[in-house]
Amino acid sequence: MACVLGLPAAGVLTVVVWWSVADYLEARRTAPLDRQRIEELIEKARADSSWKPALEAEYERQKQVSLERDARRVRYAYVILVSSVTFLVCAKWFVSLGGERPPDLEEIRQHRGDSVAHAPKHAGWRTRWARLWSTSRARRNGHPVADEIDLRFVDRIVEEEGRGIEAAIPILQRIQRHYRYLPDEALRRVCELTEITPAQIAGVSSFYAQFRRSPVGRHIIKVCHGTACHVAGAREITEEIRRRLNIAPDADTDADRFFTVDEVACLGCCSLAPVIMIDETTAGKLTPVTACEAIEAFRAEHG
Ligand code: FES
Repeated sequence: MACVLGLPAAGVLTVVVWWSVADYLEARRTAPLDRQRIEELIEKARADSSWKPALEAEYERQKQVSLERDARRVRYAYVILVSSVTFLVCAKWFVSLGGERPPDLEEIRQHRGDSVAHAPKHAGWRTRWARLWSTSRARRNGHPVADEIDLRFVDRIVEEEGRGIEAAIPILQRIQRHYRYLPDEALRRVCELTEITPAQIAGVSSFYAQFRRSPVGRHIIKVCHGTACHVAGAREITEEIRRRLNIAPDADTDADRFFTVDEVACLGCCSLAPVIMIDETTAGKLTPVTACEAIEAFRAEHG
């Protein structure tokens, strides 16, 4: 919808601005000529009164031209105002979708079925489309989609925490506790239900390290990168763990979402450096090999 309305609005805005500029330049070009014409007729009418009707006719013509131009300018102003507002609203909506293009019809057909069916019947077109697009993107990224996320939880915590900006952190904390990360769909729902904007959500969730924007594994491996552990080889341990778990360079979780690897600050047991923690289990004085063995032993016990 942003493209359907926003682009024509931008086109109309551009054309009307050009017209009004051209009109203004034309008025500036003709003004001295009109003035000169009036002065000539005044001179002639002074010398010969038979020129008076011609002078009055010229006054009348110039007055009509001026009135028509004023009326045109009012129309230009209305069109510029309406098309600017339309364009800005569409642009704001587009940005609120994450700056990504809305899905085309083929994507909608491919992904509709369940996601549209799950949109509440009273939901407006914006809500339903935003949900559909979010679902489509989540699936492409391999994240849980709306169908797997119970948004009634979000509705409930918004009711409990409030709808103002001051509720942003408590809401995000509860979403994170519940889903173990901040799913896009849940954040979008928060924006729909509260006064909190997508920009404010993005600001808060990126400022605090406690918030995660991608799904986590069932178990968290914390690799200490405090000074003592860093000196004792934490970097090599991290790289070996990631290599063994086949974690992509831009990810922190393995493919079957069993382990998430986090680099953390001092875990408070520097005498054991280098240290890792797998959930609540601590292992120290590790090498890359023994760290991986500890992880495999944990998997065997909890897998
Ligand atoms: S630096 Fe790693 S436990 Fe302190």
